[in-house]
Amino acid sequence: MANQTASYVLLALCLLVLVARHAEGRQPRLVPAIFVFGDSTVDVGNNNFLGGTRKEGRANFPQYGVDFPTSKPTGRFSNGFNTADRLAQFLGFPLSPPAYLSLNRRTVRSQMFKGLNFASAGSGLGDHTGRSVVGEVIPMTQQVESFATVVKHMYQSSGSRRTASLLSKSIFFISTGSNDMFEYSFSRSNDRKFLASLVAAYKDYLKALYHLGARKFSIVSIPPLGCTPSQRLRRLEQMGTQGCFDPLNDLSLRSYPLLAAMMEELAHELPGMAYSLGDAFTMVSFVFANPQTPDWSFTELEAACCGEGPFGASGCNQTVPLCGNRDSYLFWDANHPTQAVSTIAAETLFAGNPTFVNPINVLQLTKL
Ligand SMILES: *[C@@H]1O[C@H](CO)[C@@H](O)[C@H](O)[C@H]1NC(C)=O
Repeated sequence: MANQTASYVLLALCLLVLVARHAEGRQPRLVPAIFVFGDSTVDVGNNNFLGGTRKEGRANFPQYGVDFPTSKPTGRFSNGFNTADRLAQFLGFPLSPPAYLSLNRRTVRSQMFKGLNFASAGSGLGDHTGRSVVGEVIPMTQQVESFATVVKHMYQSSGSRRTASLLSKSIFFISTGSNDMFEYSFSRSNDRKFLASLVAAYKDYLKALYHLGARKFSIVSIPPLGCTPSQRLRRLEQMGTQGCFDPLNDLSLRSYPLLAAMMEELAHELPGMAYSLGDAFTMVSFVFANPQTPDWSFTELEAACCGEGPFGASGCNQTVPLCGNRDSYLFWDANHPTQAVSTIAAETLFAGNPTFVNPINVLQLTKL
């Protein structure tokens, strides 16, 4: 009898835990914090707070965010969640950590131990990347400087040992380089030199983050940029033919082995550094080649959901038409994936096999 009661109590406790988890809608957190750096693929609203950013560098107007839980635009270049949100969700957080610029001195201090997002649409590895296209952006240099300021606050409030311990267990998620490559493609000079300098700049930022306490990096490589609606239109206008803009895809393809070699080198140079490198080119190519699987179904691989004209590449705003079934489109606007694609990308980064993430995935990274 006593045994039976104990079993019931145990069962009830288990159910309670399950219900609590379900109510929260997520798993327990796998890491203490996530720090996000990069461009529009992971910006969650930093650019909303920059005065000098043109419309091209903003996503804080309809119909951005139409599928976000609030149905409101937030600055995410997506119909809903972006890849930073989705990865954060797999790691047990409700969504991406908040945009650094959306916080004040007090809220930065309450949030910093759970993570922050420093990403800025239009930005790149180069200090000038984005300026000519979208105006004011936050380059990687400045994103890393902001993080350095935050680390100082963490030391002051929590001490150096506890801060170092928390940072060493946290995930540093970075998605950048596309805008540098995009801009370079308009004034190509020496591809090898360009790619080498891009990867060298990346290495410097990763080292800087390491010296501030970062240990676990999740990096997304440059996707096949030539297949976005804007670049399909570029090809159509330049060459009169349909298809991806090959010069950009070639650059992207060539950047991956350089990036992979640099990461491997860095892991040898920096004690305790570990990483998971997502091969965005292979991931996106896989979806292009397999638009229908048991897990997803894409029927429109070329045109943007929000936009008009050829490939819907006009740009997304309140007056242009919106597609009906957003989950069947690869592209949300002229340059960015839909939430559906970001979900697949994040899932692959988190739990994918070595075809797509090397040398380990993010789940494995959390367990080191
Ligand atoms: C919306 O975008 C279209 C296509 O680029 C453009 O013609 C129109 O002026 C834009 N409308 C607003 C309100 O920005």
